[in-house]
Amino acid sequence: MTIALSPIDAAKHAVAERASTLVVSGMKVGLGTGSTAAFLVKCLGERVRAEGLDIVCVPTSVATAELAREEDIRLATLDEVGWLDLTVDGADEFDPALNLIKGGGGALLREKIVATASNRMIAIVDASKQVKTLGAYPLPVEVLSFGMDATKALLEKVLKTQDVDGRRFELRCRNGKIFTTDEGNHILDLHLDRIGNARDLALAINQIPGVVENGLFIGMCDTIILGKIDGAVETILASKGNSEIHRTERMGGDCPAAAK
Ligand code: A5P
Repeated sequence: MTIALSPIDAAKHAVAERASTLVVSGMKVGLGTGSTAAFLVKCLGERVRAEGLDIVCVPTSVATAELAREEDIRLATLDEVGWLDLTVDGADEFDPALNLIKGGGGALLREKIVATASNRMIAIVDASKQVKTLGAYPLPVEVLSFGMDATKALLEKVLKTQDVDGRRFELRCRNGKIFTTDEGNHILDLHLDRIGNARDLALAINQIPGVVENGLFIGMCDTIILGKIDGAVETILASKGNSEIHRTERMGGDCPAAAK
């Protein structure tokens, strides 16, 4: 079945399709989480069925695992495969150095573990994710429920030492309930508005014992595939702490619907 996509979904599909062409038989691939990653899973599923693409994938969430199974994609745990050739994932924000904020869908912990265990990480994003400075998108921080008040107090203290514009944070809730991650933890969303030094902030937050991980992906992503509303797809490569646009091309059109 094909349906006409909204411009933003067409951009997400275009970047997913472009990223899927970088996957070849024999690869071990990390599958991200979120609406853009769902398009990728669909594109890979089509290739598995149509071409017999022979890959084994490690999903970064229960939701992605379920979708991948529906798409006939062979799955394994990270421990079973050991190391990955490539991880493709979405992002909530990226800056000119290709640093990312991730975790809008709450999967940041597994996403970071999987991306770190990969030779290469590609982020597939629409143009709304491109920023000069990270921080407009609330930074997700995964925390243990044990001692959460102490963790919050320490987080307040840490944020006072950081070059950020906002310092408010809130416990993530969904449908009137406290949100729980696939690992059974909770998420504090930090409304920082502007993050002056993302590397320092990431290190400082992770010093707090009740923090499991934060959603800053620093120096981990080497390629951004960026989909514009006009249908253009740009590939941006990390280069010496900054980035360069590598190629612009047009893709897109009607395509299979992706599940969230
Ligand atoms: C999941 O936890 C996130 O890191 C997602 O990768 C991120 O929120 C991007 O999601 P979308 O592709 O749905 O915007």
